[in-house]
Amino acid sequence: MKLNIGVIKGDGIGPEIVTEAMKVLDRVGRVYGHELNYTQLLMGGASIDVHGVPLTEETIELAKQSDAVLLGSIGGDAKTSPWYQLEPSKRPEAGLLKIRKALNLFANLRPAVLYDELKGACPLKEEITEGGFDMMIMRELTGGLYFGERSTEVRDGVLTATDTLTYNEDEIRRIAKRGFDIAMKRRRKVTSIDKANVLDSSRLWRKTVEEVAKDYPEVTLEHMLVDNCAMQLVKNPRQFDVILTENMFGDILSDEASMVTGSIGMLASASLNETKFGMYEPSGGSAPDIAGKGIANPIATILSAAMMLRFSFDLDTEADAVETAVEKVLKDGYRTIDIMSEGKTQIDTAEMGDKICAYISK
Ligand code: IPM
Ligand code: MG
Repeated sequence: MKLNIGVIKGDGIGPEIVTEAMKVLDRVGRVYGHELNYTQLLMGGASIDVHGVPLTEETIELAKQSDAVLLGSIGGDAKTSPWYQLEPSKRPEAGLLKIRKALNLFANLRPAVLYDELKGACPLKEEITEGGFDMMIMRELTGGLYFGERSTEVRDGVLTATDTLTYNEDEIRRIAKRGFDIAMKRRRKVTSIDKANVLDSSRLWRKTVEEVAKDYPEVTLEHMLVDNCAMQLVKNPRQFDVILTENMFGDILSDEASMVTGSIGMLASASLNETKFGMYEPSGGSAPDIAGKGIANPIATILSAAMMLRFSFDLDTEADAVETAVEKVLKDGYRTIDIMSEGKTQIDTAEMGDKICAYISK
């Protein structure tokens, strides 16, 4: 099969971790007989440096022509990087939000799994993690606060900033359907997160999710307030199967969920639209403090590449092979520094990529 992949290495640790994911994809190509064509695309700070803007129309066009996009991470140190001297709409993050919108990537899947081998890196008590956990966060990605109108202006002599949180029922319905569809392939439970005791947008969210649930009688639906969910994630993470939520709540809760799995360096993600096209990226940031040191954990990006094989190319066997290889390397005791624990062997970014490749064979 021919796989045309747009690659946005991005900023910070992005280039290092994407290089390892491409190494793994190349290995999959060799072992299973696929041809991989990469088109390098610029976005974020790397695009600002060349074009003065974080995302060009050309990048959007080339991304659309690809079957899928692999993305590292974007952004720099807000205190020291010149990118943050620019107005907010020209900063690296604006490029990421704009490409998600331009490609209509409304469904963001972030799986948080506690690997048996990584229990040592999990900050929770053993009695809580007993039996492990495996949840899928389904985050709405193109609506809500991050895309509402915003302004900063002087009102009655006082500097005042406003952000608006808007959702219509169509946007809620399409993400809810995705959440229930994926629950049908898992343990058939959806926990819908909102703040319906305060927000109108959450009350519409809850009502719409309940309507969608009627088409999925086999799925158990629970509603949970977002503040309670933040607590439940550390109190009893096993209760969750699919967490369905809006953009900002999903942004926050997915970072928390990743940490209870041991490290944000383990959390993959897929951003999908109505077609097979998707953008695949680790959920973590660009970590400028460790960029260039060769110590970043490439596993989240490698697992994102596995999601790409699964969702955009329907290559389930190949995706399974990558995921199994990751598990084997962890079982062998190899760790990057973020997931290091006593008695294990610490390796660097490139070695982790090599070890995972070595386990991919037919
Ligand atoms: C993420 C990131 C982005 C987001 C930022 C960089 C705009 O935090 O993918 O979770 O909030 O979506
Ligand atoms: Mg985030």
